[in-house]
Amino acid sequence: MEPIRRKRPQNFVNFLAFLALAAFLGLVMASSTLAKQTSEPKRLTNAKGGDCVACHGQAQVMPEGHDDTKDMTYEDCLACHDGKETASLRTNIPLGHIHHLQGVSCQDCHGDSGEYNALETDECFACHDSGEGVAKLTEGHGEENPHNSPHYATDLDCELCHHVHEKSENYCAQCHDWALVVP
Ligand code: HEC
Ligand code: HEC
Ligand code: HEC
Ligand code: HEC
Ligand code: HEC
Ligand code: HEC
Repeated sequence: MEPIRRKRPQNFVNFLAFLALAAFLGLVMASSTLAKQTSEPKRLTNAKGGDCVACHGQAQVMPEGHDDTKDMTYEDCLACHDGKETASLRTNIPLGHIHHLQGVSCQDCHGDSGEYNALETDECFACHDSGEGVAKLTEGHGEENPHNSPHYATDLDCELCHHVHEKSENYCAQCHDWALVVP
């Protein structure tokens, strides 16, 4: 009889411990979804590009005291953000935002199917001409032309450097230490 009597309360203690753990995990999960709701920006397809609060909520994406940008276009931003007295916006906001502020909508890039896939380089050319075309735009901009190199000529996929919703990267930096600022 002894072992059985001891076992019962032990099971009960285990059960209590399980309840406490479940309640604790529940709390942790609830508070982390709460944190997500307040800090993860939404991709509202109908918000204006300058209306940071619409998508970011109260999360601070602007320095304190910055002018209200709700109705601004990219041109308005550049009046101050000239890369001289005030920082360039390249790399300070994602490339998708730079498009949005210039009137390029989600559907202009992703189409109307409701699917959001990465774009092929040819799909970028729908608006950006061609490899030779973009190479011309950046001729003489910096130490080297990222759009025209002895290795790849003007034939390099855009996504190797430009990301639309994440930080872009410098593909050449694997081997060269040129400080390219990639929008
Ligand atoms: C009236 C001038 C002015 C206008 C217009 C303006 N900004 Fe700014 N912005 C500033 C100043 C000044 C700073 C802080 C100093 C700096 O970053 O060089 C700043 C900082 C920022 C920062 C933080 C940059 C960092 O280094 O962290 C972002 C992001 C930003 N602005 C976005 C925008 C966007 C987007 C627009 C247009 C929708 C815009 N600003 C329009 C003056 C302006
Ligand atoms: C300039 C073209 C362009 C615009 C404008 C654009 N996207 Fe994208 N989107 C891309 C590309 C390219 C990718 C592949 C990932 C990347 O480059 O960041 C992508 C990926 C995505 C993805 C899937 C991957 C992920 O990061 O979750 C979603 C969802 C998405 N876009 C939604 C949107 C919405 C919503 C808008 C409008 C607010 C928008 N996109 C505007 C080009 C664009
Ligand atoms: C629906 C048209 C459209 C599509 C598709 C598109 N763009 Fe753009 N893009 C624009 C417009 C408009 C501008 C602003 C004017 C300009 O620079 O030509 C721009 C500007 C840019 C800039 C310059 C940003 C800056 O800092 O000035 C880059 C880089 C860029 N696009 C890359 C891409 C890449 C990479 C793709 C493919 C993933 C792409 N774009 C797809 C319309 C488009
Ligand atoms: C090796 C990296 C790299 C690749 C690949 C790349 N870009 Fe760029 N791109 C850059 C850099 C760096 C800049 C900024 C150059 C500057 O003005 O200093 C830039 C700037 C641009 C601009 C703005 C030009 C302007 O008028 O200032 C456009 C538009 C653009 N890229 C489109 C594209 C498209 C479209 C593709 C694909 C065919 C592409 N890029 C592939 C690195 C790259
Ligand atoms: C349409 C919704 C939308 C609007 C409007 C918007 N954002 Fe965003 N923002 C996002 C999303 C979603 C992301 C996550 C990356 C992405 O999808 O581009 C993001 C990412 C960012 C990032 C990079 C975040 C990081 O942690 O590196 C910065 C900075 C930023 N936004 C600043 C701004 C500023 C400044 C404005 C107003 C001028 C603004 N955003 C307007 C939706 C938006
Ligand atoms: C996998 C490594 C690698 C990558 C990635 C790479 N390069 Fe190079 N690159 C080299 C090597 C190696 C040389 C030869 C260096 C020499 O002869 O001094 C070279 C030479 C060059 C030269 C000749 C002038 C010089 O400085 O020697 C240019 C211009 C150049 N690369 C541009 C680029 C550009 C632009 C990119 C990005 C689009 C790029 N490279 C990416 C390895 C690379």
